[in-house]
Amino acid sequence: MSPFIKDASVQAVLAAASIVDVVSGYTSLRKRGATYTGLCPFHQEKTPSFTVSADKGLYYCFGCGEGGDVVRFLERIESLSFTEAIEQLGERFGVPVEFEEGAGPEAGRKDRETRLLLALERAATFYQRFLWETESGRFAREYLEKRGLEEKTCRAFRVGYAPDEWRGLRRRAAKEGFTDRELEEAGLLIDQGGKTYDRFRGRLMFPLVDHRGRVLGFGGRTLKDETPKYLNSPEGSLYRKGQLLYGLYQARRAIADADEVVVVEGYTDVLGLAQADVGNVVASMGTALTDAQIGLMMRFTSNITFMFDADRAGTEAMLRSGDLARGHSLRPMVAVLPVGRDPADVAVQEGGQVVSEVIKGKISLLGFEIRQALARGDTSTADGRVRAFEEVRHIMSKASSLKEREEEIPAVADRLRLSSDSVALLLRGRTRAGFESLANREERDRARSSLTRRLLSGETAVERDFLVAAACNPGRAGRIIEALTPEHFGDANNREVFLGLREAFALATDTNDHRAAFAHLKDRARGDSEAGPLFVRLVMEADQGRYSPAVLEELHLRLQQQYLSRQIDTLRATLDDGADREEEQRRLVNLERLLQSVRAGLKDLDPEEGRA
Ligand code: GTP
Ligand code: MN
Repeated sequence: MSPFIKDASVQAVLAAASIVDVVSGYTSLRKRGATYTGLCPFHQEKTPSFTVSADKGLYYCFGCGEGGDVVRFLERIESLSFTEAIEQLGERFGVPVEFEEGAGPEAGRKDRETRLLLALERAATFYQRFLWETESGRFAREYLEKRGLEEKTCRAFRVGYAPDEWRGLRRRAAKEGFTDRELEEAGLLIDQGGKTYDRFRGRLMFPLVDHRGRVLGFGGRTLKDETPKYLNSPEGSLYRKGQLLYGLYQARRAIADADEVVVVEGYTDVLGLAQADVGNVVASMGTALTDAQIGLMMRFTSNITFMFDADRAGTEAMLRSGDLARGHSLRPMVAVLPVGRDPADVAVQEGGQVVSEVIKGKISLLGFEIRQALARGDTSTADGRVRAFEEVRHIMSKASSLKEREEEIPAVADRLRLSSDSVALLLRGRTRAGFESLANREERDRARSSLTRRLLSGETAVERDFLVAAACNPGRAGRIIEALTPEHFGDANNREVFLGLREAFALATDTNDHRAAFAHLKDRARGDSEAGPLFVRLVMEADQGRYSPAVLEELHLRLQQQYLSRQIDTLRATLDDGADREEEQRRLVNLERLLQSVRAGLKDLDPEEGRA
């Protein structure tokens, strides 16, 4: 164990320390047979996957894979060194801790750390030389060549290759005077019941370097078809996964210069991008970022752009990282890659130009999340839109500023077929009636959700009522319907009914027979489409003549109004990019003029007379 605390003291402390007592200080444990279980103190979880065995003196989390003995637990949870952990346990369980002569706790820790760092540094050099200078390294060199990674790039990141032997590294390190214990503590050697062997064998080695350039560990990629694809150094007093950003050391200046850091997932992504002259890149190493990692980046910039693989795991890790970044008042962005490509592919195959374009085309993470939520939801029906809106509201609540929220409103308005004003109103969660005046929260929530429903289904209702009114007044409606397009209807079912009605009217004109037209509608009603019941309603209500011609006029105007507002919002959103677009500008002016005249038409209608 530690070369500086007397071994007898270490043993005495370990014998006296109760792992259950120690762990209980961080999470509450319940006894289940021979083991204890609880919520893992190392990661967020809702159901317990953390177990402690009192008689084995070990803990393990089935959720995050963290595990070890009581010393490791303290090292990890309190960020202590081995010596510090033993000292703390000694105090707590009343065991005096004695040091080897001439070595106090401070000296001990420093010397030990220096030795481990040296071992890791030497190992990095050893692996590097093995890659470039040996016959055995040829296989790995060819692999790199196949992937398009050049020697210059690999050298900048000190990529190496571990001999495919049981004790290649150990032999070399022993010659340089490193003990097995030191190599084991450095995570380079595995000790299995007294038998030792190299941890990394036949793997491409990526040194994990901290922002000061010190090698703290390695990620080793297999070159065979083998799991795990990447083997990492175990976490110890030096290497802690969540505290280091791969590539930061090499990227620091580029990040400061660009005032932006691009976060990718993998080692190879960092290399590929650096090779394509995109230097301001770091890797999260396949997981979500931690607070510590975000803190590291923020020393150099406060502009974070994620460029994660476009798969589910990548997206999830990115969203979690984004939530954390917002916690630091950052406004994370996303550079969206084509599906199925990772940054390394694109950089190596298509070059820096293409990657830079992708980065320039970044959108806010908030916008990305909203687009995803809207794309997932079924926005063709009113119910679907209410659900989608609730999700959007939740995402919007995470925005880091009002401005960020407002930027997204046109896109939401467009997808939900509302005016931007209505969306803003719903997001504020306040009306002129003022939800805030409602005393209790439940009432407020109810009022808000009924407003949401009304607004979101309002446009659908106008469309439907218009169709019914048209069916009630076939003489007058014929020409109106002819002039409309499917785009006038936002709701998918209404659109289908519109098409059916248009066919029916055309039939009636051709045959001069209204009955034939309704027979046609009845046929459509029998079909198994979702719009079926609406066709039935149309036929029934038409028979009863429910809506007068005046109502038809009004509903026609309202339909036009909704449609024009939607068009205008969409057009405005595309014009926001600042480019000079005369054509669209002119269309916008026209649409706005039309909308004005429709509004004037609506005002002229006497609301009392307008309703049947
Ligand atoms: P290539 O397949 O060589 O291009 O590597 P990659 O970096 O693209 O791998 P991938 O996209 O699968 O994973 C992204 C990052 O997650 C890697 O660079 C590693 O840091 C990490 N990672 C992936 N697989 C493993 C694994 O099995 N174990 C560990 N510890 N990390 C992994
Ligand atoms: Mn990848």
